This record gives sequence, C-alpha cells and structure tokens, in this order.
Amino acid sequence: MTDTEFAREVLAGLRQKQKALSPKWLYDQRGSELFEEITAVPEYYPTRTEDGIFDEALPDLAERFSGAAVAEFGSGSSRKSVRLIEAISPSVYVPIDIAAAFLEEAADGLRTRFLALEVVPQAADFTKATTLPSAFSEASSRLGFFPGSTIGNFDTGGAEDFLRESLKTLGTGAAFLVGADLVKDESVLRAAYDDAGGVTAAFNLNLLTRINRELGADFDLMHFRHEARWNAQRERIEMHLVSALPQTVTVAGEEIAFAEGETIHTENSHKYTVDGFEALAGRAGWRLDRMWTDEKDWFGVFLLTS
Ligand code: SAH
Ligand code: AVI
Repeated sequence: MTDTEFAREVLAGLRQKQKALSPKWLYDQRGSELFEEITAVPEYYPTRTEDGIFDEALPDLAERFSGAAVAEFGSGSSRKSVRLIEAISPSVYVPIDIAAAFLEEAADGLRTRFLALEVVPQAADFTKATTLPSAFSEASSRLGFFPGSTIGNFDTGGAEDFLRESLKTLGTGAAFLVGADLVKDESVLRAAYDDAGGVTAAFNLNLLTRINRELGADFDLMHFRHEARWNAQRERIEMHLVSALPQTVTVAGEEIAFAEGETIHTENSHKYTVDGFEALAGRAGWRLDRMWTDEKDWFGVFLLTS
C-alpha cells in the first residue's frame, strides 16, 4: 500500500511543515465527476467564458488547422474537444489524462460520435516526459490543446517547464492552443472556488476520501473544511483543507498530527495577465501568434506557435 507513487507523494506531502499535495491527485473517478459538476455551477465562470470565446475563435481555427493532428493535455470529459473536432476534423485526436478510466470513457464516447476519427487516448502524467503516438508526431500539421486554465494549476516554474517540455512533445512547427484564466476582482475569484452549493468543497474533500480508500487512512471528513484563499502577491487562488481541531490521522500506517487550523494545501490556480502569459510562453520558446478574450477580459485563449 505504501509502495505506490500516490502513497509516497501523499506521505511526503503530509510530512512537510506546510502540508501540501499535488492537485493531480484530486482526479480519481469521483473527483473527475465532481470537476464536471463544478463547470456547471453558476459561480464557476471559466468554463462558460472559455466556451463563449471558442464561439468566436473556432471559425478562424478551422481555417488554419483543418485536418491537423490534435493532442489534448488534461482532456477530462473531452467536452471542449468535441467543438474543436467538429470545427477542424482532425486526422487523429490524442487525449492525455491521468484519470485513466474517465479518459477511456470519454474516448469511447468520441469514437461513437465521430465514427471516422482515430482516437488514441494516453493515460499519463503530463508533467513527465510524454511521447506521442506516431499518428500525431508524423502529421504535417500538429496542434496541442490545453484548455480550461489547467496551466494555472502549475506553480510559475512548473508552468514554464511544462510549456518548454510541450514544445519538445508536440515537435517544432506545432502550434499550441492554451486557455488561461485572467486576474480579476477577488470576490469573483473567491466565489468561483467556494460555490454556495458546496460542489468545490466536495471536490476538495474527496481527496481525503480517496486517501482513506487507497491508503487505509482514517481522515474524518467532519473534522476538515474546504477553504479558498486569494494569494494577492502570487496572483493565485489556493485551495486548502483546514483541520477543525487538534487531531492525529493515520495514513498508510503513519501517524500525522494536525494542530487546530492547520491546513493541507491541495491546489493553486494561478491567474494571468495577457503580458504575463505572453512572457511566460516566450521564456519557454513559444511565440504568441494570436489571443482571444471575452468582453470582460476574464479569460484568455492563446494561440502559441513555434
Ligand atoms: N480540459 C478539461 C478538463 C480540465 S480538469 C476542461 O477544460 O474542462 C483538469 C484535467 O487534467 C483533469 O481531467 C485531470 O485528470 C487532468 N490532470 C490534472 N493533472 C494531470 C497530470 N499531471 N497529468 C495528466 N492529467 C492531469
Ligand atoms: C482544472 N483546473 C483548471 C480547475 C481550476 O479552476 O483551477 C480545477 C478547479 N479547482 C477548483 N475548482 C476547479
């Protein structure tokens, strides 16, 4: 039980002074379903705002990338990819996601919907070096797709490393379409990550349920609460799980002590400025070709070229 990457990372994260876990562990089957629910809550503006931007961008993208090979990082339900696939009729679609069962389900759905489309799912951690199938790497026109501002879940160095690595993975000459959430009023951001219906709280707390199930731990979910904090200096929303009282939890046989109010930091969601994102992409070797936004400048869709 302690000999998996999940066990090693959870124990290492819980031994730190500021307890912290990678957001990639939020996405077991239930976590993936809860994320889908989040995208529909009224306060969570990123998904519907990005959808609105695609209304404008897709005709241009269709002209430019018709028939291209597409690889999507963190594809989840592939809901956004459906629109891209309809617009450009890719030669092959490669969805990459860490949530293997959810990925396979989404891939089956796409095969049923697009009978002629070659769908080649890759169950993988995109923070690690990834080799894409030859149907992608040998295509003359290649487009990476990374919507939803999942890039914001990296820390700043991690986002740059990811973008640099993605240039190698996609190959020189490829383009990369990246959705990134933009800095805005704190009240809008806090509500988006602490919705009144409690779906985001359930998404965050589900990580403890997963640790209980997979690592034989005994977290009492009544003794932790979800908190969304705006870190103004780093321009990011942080998700934390706050211990409501002093307590000791056993995780994979190891006792972990919590003081009252102590937190496990479970996710960062960085918000960008257009200039900041362009500079970040530039440091990683990408050039900003074009950018689309909504009327409130809440979200940006960036087309990067190499
Ligand atoms: N692209 C979709 C889903 C975003 S949710 C959208 O825009 O709505 C983030 C997705 O990234 C989840 O499906 C999650 O399982 C996946 N993910 C998170 N970290 C990952 C990692 N390190 N490697 C691969 N997939 C990851
Ligand atoms: C996937 N990712 C971009 C989401 C975000 O907004 O950071 C995950 C999420 N966390 C809480 N709500 C949604």
